[in-house]
Amino acid sequence: MSAESKSFYLTTPIYYVNDAPHIGHAYTTVAGDVLTRWHRQRGESVWFLTGTDEHGQKVLNTAGANGTSPQEWCDRLVEEAWKPVWSSLNIAYDDFIRTTEPRHMERVQRFLTGLKEQGHIYAGKYEGPYCVGCEEFKLPGDLDEGRCKVHGTPVEMVSEENWFFRLSAFVPQLLEHYKDHPEACEPASARNEVIAFLESGVQDLSISRSSFDWGIPVPWDLKQVIYVWFDALLNYATAVGLGDPVDSEGGKKFARTWPADVHLVGKDILRFHAVIWPAMLMAAELPLPKKVFAHGWLLVGGEKMSKSKLTGIAPADITDHFGVDAFRYYFLRAIPFGSDGSFSWEDMAARYTSELANDFGNLASRLIAMIEKYCDGAIPALAHDATLEAALATASAHADTAIVALDFQGGINAIMDFCKRVNGYVTEQEPWVLAKDPSNKAALDAVLYNTAEAIRALAVLLHPVMPATTETLWSSLGADLTLGPIGAQSIGKVAQWGQLPAGSKVTKGAVLFPRLEEKAD
Ligand code: MSP
Repeated sequence: MSAESKSFYLTTPIYYVNDAPHIGHAYTTVAGDVLTRWHRQRGESVWFLTGTDEHGQKVLNTAGANGTSPQEWCDRLVEEAWKPVWSSLNIAYDDFIRTTEPRHMERVQRFLTGLKEQGHIYAGKYEGPYCVGCEEFKLPGDLDEGRCKVHGTPVEMVSEENWFFRLSAFVPQLLEHYKDHPEACEPASARNEVIAFLESGVQDLSISRSSFDWGIPVPWDLKQVIYVWFDALLNYATAVGLGDPVDSEGGKKFARTWPADVHLVGKDILRFHAVIWPAMLMAAELPLPKKVFAHGWLLVGGEKMSKSKLTGIAPADITDHFGVDAFRYYFLRAIPFGSDGSFSWEDMAARYTSELANDFGNLASRLIAMIEKYCDGAIPALAHDATLEAALATASAHADTAIVALDFQGGINAIMDFCKRVNGYVTEQEPWVLAKDPSNKAALDAVLYNTAEAIRALAVLLHPVMPATTETLWSSLGADLTLGPIGAQSIGKVAQWGQLPAGSKVTKGAVLFPRLEEKAD
């Protein structure tokens, strides 16, 4: 298989279905959607996986508390909450995996059997604290007066005969891996944390539970179910055909897709992804993911926003007011990816008005109105402006470098700075003044052409972030009929000036970002 045909493969965590999604979950998934849309527009073949983590005590307890079976509970939440929320946010995933699906469960069992045959699994006894919220066996340093530091809830004391994975055996190899491939765990603060954890002495991992049965049975010991994290981490590989014969559909998919290029995770689940998961792959002699990127938390009142602390905000609470695209834009624009950030209605309203409604939306509607008024609604003849063209070339190159490196804020800033330049250009050129004297018609046409071209480029560059709004703008420019669908526009060619053909008709579309006070509350 040639390197060219390998897909850019990105995953989000698979989410626990103990509740409906909140904006913390949406933050990760939107970031994944923006990044995969960006790579698609770079002309790459892309595979974007998300899904749900359905086994374990947390989901079992929640289903019980709601008087249903865990399977019914998961089916309901996936169909009525998770999938509809992703669709409302315009998430274009290629596959949605559920850990209760046979395609996953069978491959997990086969994988585990393989590890046992290779001597990586042994029987032992686990005794110690367990946090059901984290679904994690805890170390003394993870606790604060007997409570989990993440959830603030008391831990359970577990004492069980379990199957263990020889995690400790892989510590030297993992340290070597991060020394040789620092890009495999980012940002640097996350990598340092992982290295410190590895150096502090890692113990073997209990990978089965015997006190409940909501999980994948251990194939050789049916009284035990596989530990939910061991089951869950494997989704990234089972979803693309892990362990299938090389010439089968699954085997071919695996060759095209694995290893993952980016696992996007929140910083709270870093250790699972940067320690346990690569060790599992090392044990199975499979290639390691190229990058685990740990983003920060959305905070409310200085703490991680979460449903269990009753601080969860549903995406619809925000999108009902600001619209879906402003939601997608805001968090990536306002918070450096990798740092924590506080959500504030005031900050979001301020950015909505200044950056989206004024800088971008108004620019587009003024341009369309002027072309309608001064040019009979037809894009004027091709023109050039060296400064604007150079600014676009720089902005698109910066944006590409930043976004590919998961610096969404840097990438969006580069694009929005260009948007400001275009506004500056219109203000300086004063087309409404030129329009007063018919002898200036050529100059007026040139200003309007240059502005339209700049807006064409802005629409293409912002499409991964704001797909619906930019599509509306694209058809207002008449570009869907002349240049084809906006999603097919190449990032690599966006700075080539002169793509909008003269004579194509513009139409006044819906206001891209309506004034907030005009909305009924
Ligand atoms: N099921 C596990 C993941 C298994 S992946 C093999 C899990 N699920 S989760 O639903 O609890 O969280 C999933 C993701 O949502 C994590 O990356 C987590 O960091 C993220 N977030 C949950 N709350 C968040 C915030 N308040 N802010 C940002 N991200 C947050 O963990």
